[in-house]
Amino acid sequence: MSDPGKAKRVTTHTLQEMKAEGIPIAMLTAYDFSLARLVDAAGVDVILVGDSASNVMAGHETTLPITLDQMIYHASSVVRGVQRALVVVDLPFGTYQGNTKGALNSAIRIMKESGAHAVKLEGGREVLGSIQRILSAGIPVMGHLGLTPQSIYKFGTYVVRAREQEEADRLRADAKLLEEAGCFALVLEKIPADLAREVAQSVDIPVIGIGAGGGVDGQVLVLHDMLGINHEFNPRFLRRYADLHGTITDAVGRYIEDVRSHEFPNTDEQY
Ligand code: KIV
Repeated sequence: MSDPGKAKRVTTHTLQEMKAEGIPIAMLTAYDFSLARLVDAAGVDVILVGDSASNVMAGHETTLPITLDQMIYHASSVVRGVQRALVVVDLPFGTYQGNTKGALNSAIRIMKESGAHAVKLEGGREVLGSIQRILSAGIPVMGHLGLTPQSIYKFGTYVVRAREQEEADRLRADAKLLEEAGCFALVLEKIPADLAREVAQSVDIPVIGIGAGGGVDGQVLVLHDMLGINHEFNPRFLRRYADLHGTITDAVGRYIEDVRSHEFPNTDEQY
């Protein structure tokens, strides 16, 4: 029985209705219980347990090292904090490419062991077999085209993708293929805004952009970037909504000062 006090859950269908009604979709990443709970309560529609956890949680230079077990750990922590948002989990590098059975097993492990609602994976035609096999098990799949960070060593750089005609045409065709295969939504990362708008208009599934302009159906940012926890990552597409780097540094500095000066704890803060 549903609890009348609880917000209605966002589903893949909700997102498709939002696109049809022209309501922009707000998506953010989260990797742990406490921040997922805050982000969910604030009303975000989709929480992505991104493999960007490899960068922002584990300090790796790329998203490649994170493992399936680590993604499941992050995802299950997030799921425990979420009441309303759709929780989507990235399939990490090496768990779905070139092996459809392996892809299905990875997706099943994520769904079974974390309780998440969908998976995301990077790529177009080259991973279509994996996408079809995962979908055949009833697991919703979100696609991801454009700058796909798991292929950074192929690209060699994090610059904007699909500026050239050939790559843009391939991306247009891949978006159609992913829609026809049954993906419920698509992320477009760091591509020209005009191309992203055209793709969003050419498919019926929601297109969520990051560095892809305002002509798409929704936006996603990495939570730690938009909260300003780090100062080193400054791409043009990033808008910082807080300066947690400053807030945390200041709070920790004041705590250290109070400990050193015997200001903390005071008589009210002891038993
Ligand atoms: O891993 C991630 O955070 C992502 C987003 C950048 C879309 O894939």
